[in-house]
Amino acid sequence: MTSEHPRKIGFIGGGNMARSLVGGLIQAGHDASAIHVSDPSSAALEAMGRLGGVQLGDDNDAIVTQVDVLVLAVKPQAMGSVLAPLASRLAERQPLLISIAAGLTTSALESWAGPLPLVRCMPNTPALVGAGMSVLYATDTVDASGRECAETIMRSAGEVRWVKQEAQMDAVTAVSGSGPAYFFHMMEAMMAAGLEQGLDAATSRALVLQTALGAARMAIESGTDPGELRRQVTSPGGTTAAALSVFADGDLMGLVSRAVAAAADRSVTLAVELDPSAKGP
Ligand SMILES: NC(=O)c1ccc[n+]([C@@H]2O[C@H](COP(=O)([O-])OP(=O)(O)OC[C@H]3O[C@@H](n4cnc5c(N)ncnc54)[C@H](OP(=O)(O)O)[C@@H]3O)[C@@H](O)[C@H]2O)c1
Repeated sequence: MTSEHPRKIGFIGGGNMARSLVGGLIQAGHDASAIHVSDPSSAALEAMGRLGGVQLGDDNDAIVTQVDVLVLAVKPQAMGSVLAPLASRLAERQPLLISIAAGLTTSALESWAGPLPLVRCMPNTPALVGAGMSVLYATDTVDASGRECAETIMRSAGEVRWVKQEAQMDAVTAVSGSGPAYFFHMMEAMMAAGLEQGLDAATSRALVLQTALGAARMAIESGTDPGELRRQVTSPGGTTAAALSVFADGDLMGLVSRAVAAAADRSVTLAVELDPSAKGP
């Protein structure tokens, strides 16, 4: 989004996630002076200022008048109080809205902002180190250039995929949104097991983290199905087979399936709790 997409991008909320996106955009060659950030927190603005050249302020209304694309990067609970006062300005300016707030549906966002071209995005925590998985859903009023613009912004923090149905966002939340925590938990378990087997803490940690990184890179770079990669490193009667048979005895596949289903169910409930238009009278 450099010369062919000279859009002005605004961020409402300049915290951790916004800073990763802005940093990624600047690194990708986007003009920093065409990025506007509004946040009431001077600490957040100072941290954003260290990226260099970004337009900073604390007036959300002013930012709407200055940009073509508005990324909503405040906490979900703050979104209603941010959007409702901006509704008439948004109706006048018609920017593309991109919400990265977890769990807020497009109907909740529209109930505050009014009908606008809207992209709902579910990023995950590794976006903070440029290795995120962001999944996007666009309402019918978003045209091809709006989709391309949203994709370019989110790609600055990692990989991007689209879903066609908003209902799939609950599964997305359960797999990639909450997913980093599942892998962190597996790391915790393996680090503790390494200690039990006589390794010191630093060695166990180094072995587990590099093994996790290496396994993920191998799966991505080879394009081979992870099940096939597992079979390739499992010799009959060997050490890996001994460990995997304990996982099978504990029904690891069933356990993961129930855990992901619980997260997806919780996502459905949370979306209703956060959506004023979903509540009865
Ligand atoms: N971090 C992640 O890994 C992650 C993953 C998936 C989705 N998300 C979503 O990304 C969004 C941002 O998360 P984050 O981790 O970046 O949160 P964050 O670091 O707390 O950033 C939010 C920022 O918004 C500011 N803010 C509050 N009220 C505002 C207002 N009225 N106008 C303008 N700015 C305002 C906050 O200032 P104060 O601190 O002064 O309140 C804060 O600096 C959330 O909706 C979250 O659900 C984050």
